[in-house]
Amino acid sequence: AQKFLIAPSILSADLARLGDDVQAVVDAGADIIHFDVMDNHYVPNLTFGPAICAALRKYGITAPIDVHLMVEPVDALIEQFIDAGASYITFHPEASKHVDRSLELIRAAGLKCGLVLNPGSPLSMVEQVLHKLDMLLLMSVNPGFGGQSFIPYTLDKIRAARGLIDASGLETRLEVDGGVKLSNIQAIAEAGADTFVAGSAIFGAADYQETIGQMKASLAK
Ligand code: DX5
Ligand code: ZN
Repeated sequence: AQKFLIAPSILSADLARLGDDVQAVVDAGADIIHFDVMDNHYVPNLTFGPAICAALRKYGITAPIDVHLMVEPVDALIEQFIDAGASYITFHPEASKHVDRSLELIRAAGLKCGLVLNPGSPLSMVEQVLHKLDMLLLMSVNPGFGGQSFIPYTLDKIRAARGLIDASGLETRLEVDGGVKLSNIQAIAEAGADTFVAGSAIFGAADYQETIGQMKASLAK
């Protein structure tokens, strides 16, 4: 498997021409597409649902779609995103009454599953099911909005999560979401992350290819 993955978050894309903008980041070197689902309940913002995911597939986007559910409850939307063509589905453990059952819903459909921890949520919340996860997503901002600053103390948590994953001999992807930029991506990788969500840093750039290229170059150092 490819070591480092760049995952542009479509929260910062040009939403009125979403298909073209997503194709543009894929052509520019994006590895997976990060799809932020917000419900104005689990987080204080509202974005897009399964119909938009299905529309991207219909448009011809073939890259993996990494659905980050910031919704409560999760199970009904998990089923809808399975049908909508998601590749990964991750959710916050606080948002499901039965975390193991929700993970199994995703796994049974043959998709990749993951859990997401807010900055203030401890790694112990995922310990019992770590072996079931294809992805552990650590938030480096409080979820709800793009364009926030990376919270520095989350670097220690990334290091601790990398330690747990390696000590268990697992190949779980360790994804980081929030405030990831060209200026800090290398430090985040050194802490142990291998999958990098970037919304404003990529979609806000004039040249996607140059920006993703520079991110990959600093990861290769
Ligand atoms: C925040 C979302 C992020 C967000 C990241 O709730 O989960 O994926 O889009 O945006 P940037 O990269 O701008 O911090
Ligand atoms: Zn996200």
